[in-house]
Amino acid sequence: MRKYIFLFGFIALGFNLFISGCKGPTGPAGPAGETTVINLDGFKEGIKCGECHNADSDTIYYVTAKKYQWELSKHAWGGDFERSSSTCANCHTTEGFVQAMQGKTVTSHVDASPPGCFACHSPHSTGDFSLRSVAAVTLLSPIQGVADAQFDYGKGNLCAQCHKPRSMSPKADPSKTAMTDTITITSSRWYAHYGVQSQMLMGTGGFKFADYSYTGNSNHTDNTTIKKEGCIVCHMTDATAGSGIAGGHTMNLEYESGSSLTNGCKTSGCHPSSFTVDYIGASSSLTGGLGSHTAVEAYLDTLKNLLLDVNVVNKWNVGAQQAWIVEGTEGFTINAGSGSKALKIRPASRAGALFNFFFVEHDLSKGSHNTRYAIELLKSSIAELKKL
Ligand code: HEC
Ligand code: HEC
Ligand code: HEC
Ligand code: HEC
Ligand code: HEC
Repeated sequence: MRKYIFLFGFIALGFNLFISGCKGPTGPAGPAGETTVINLDGFKEGIKCGECHNADSDTIYYVTAKKYQWELSKHAWGGDFERSSSTCANCHTTEGFVQAMQGKTVTSHVDASPPGCFACHSPHSTGDFSLRSVAAVTLLSPIQGVADAQFDYGKGNLCAQCHKPRSMSPKADPSKTAMTDTITITSSRWYAHYGVQSQMLMGTGGFKFADYSYTGNSNHTDNTTIKKEGCIVCHMTDATAGSGIAGGHTMNLEYESGSSLTNGCKTSGCHPSSFTVDYIGASSSLTGGLGSHTAVEAYLDTLKNLLLDVNVVNKWNVGAQQAWIVEGTEGFTINAGSGSKALKIRPASRAGALFNFFFVEHDLSKGSHNTRYAIELLKSSIAELKKL
């Protein structure tokens, strides 16, 4: 019962502030003596609540619309916000992300919320929807001998604060090509986590075999519009009115009908109006003309079958005969664990094929982010496993 009285009190207080205008820089405090409202950011002096909390005149920011879009994004429904311990909360929860951006120690949050409005914006403390951070982001290198990279793609830097790799141990090492060089993998997650899109777009973070000649990146990596807007130019483009739900704060490039939202691709100076998403241009000689999605999916499939084939990978296994990947309830993971379940590969460089499989797979764009880079990583990995 107390709880309801408190809630009612809080709503009444909010309404009161709405009527009278907020003056205090710290915003609404709890009823005296009962509780303390912990405000991560505080309220800006003099902000007008009604500019955002009034669906009736919602044409300044369209907050109601953005909320609905966000609710349809995986940010809202993905469910991984319970990864709320201090090592995960900085990317998986709003509370941890705000701490990280404020330079505070990230703590565990049992009562956590997924990446929401207050992660990417701070509307109460700024009075608008400016972005919480657009600073360049350091991308940790998972590859021995390759330096960490600086990701600097304008507003897209905000995305890369979370869509970036985590540290990985041991690092993958392209220089370890001798049969006496063994790598011991003791984790089923020997990869740089899931958010590798920033690395893929930049053309870094993939494993380059020493004897393969790589020819660089697709246009996207250095495209002037993408350098300025980053991920946003494609993922947050407006959907065509009446065509379905995608883009904006859903950040989805696929309408629910399955067709693609390509309005961002057709930004002036980029692709023509006839553009379709399974496109390949300058890299078509790498695939014999197959579309980028078709090619990447085909190469991923070929590589997957090689990694699953004991007759192939056993040439490089030390000790136990075992496939390098295994299918679980949530897709493929590495067939490794601690102690006797360790996966030992020699020469160690050959494990680069395993690394690249997950790198391209976890990018999830099927080559759209950086077609040339993705395809060459896959082709070189396949060639590596076909060596005698
Ligand atoms: C610049 C826009 C903006 C302004 C101005 C603003 N808010 Fe908000 N506020 C938001 C957004 C966005 C949310 C999160 C989405 C939502 O719940 O509507 C939010 C959430 C809230 C919530 C939590 C609602 C819930 O259900 O969890 C309260 C309470 C609140 N605001 C009170 C206020 C008060 C009081 C003021 C004026 C002093 C104010 N806001 C001014 C944008 C704003
Ligand atoms: C606060 C961290 C954070 C920020 C900032 C962030 N994301 Fe995310 N994003 C996530 C997490 C975590 C998930 C997975 C959510 C889950 O599974 O619960 C995700 C999921 C996604 C997905 C769905 C992926 C899928 O598997 O379908 C897209 C698309 C996406 N983000 C795009 C973006 C873009 C574009 C930006 C920048 C405008 C951005 N994100 C900013 C953390 C973040
Ligand atoms: C540097 C930011 C970051 C940190 C730290 C982080 N994650 Fe994530 N994680 C992400 C992003 C971004 C995604 C979503 C990627 C996508 O779907 O494109 C994700 C996805 C996941 C997924 C979903 C994979 C899937 O296929 O649905 C799991 C599970 C996960 N993370 C677990 C964890 C755990 C456990 C921790 C802490 C030990 C952690 N993460 C720490 C950024 C991070
Ligand atoms: C994952 C990050 C992310 C989340 C979560 C997020 N936004 Fe945004 N939002 C952005 C980015 C990036 C832009 C800038 C888009 C652009 O420039 O085209 C933006 C733009 C906006 C704008 C337009 C600002 C302007 O000045 O025109 C509004 C309004 C807005 N967001 C409201 C919200 C609300 C409300 C929520 C929660 C329901 C929310 N956002 C959640 C990243 C996010
Ligand atoms: C040039 C346009 C473009 C840019 C820039 C871009 N993306 Fe993408 N992204 C795509 C396309 C196209 C897909 C594939 C969508 C599909 O499968 O239909 C995609 C897929 C994704 C997915 C998987 C979504 C899903 O539903 O499976 C995530 C997550 C993602 N991108 C995040 C990012 C992040 C983070 C950035 C910035 C570092 C970024 N993207 C930059 C075009 C872009």
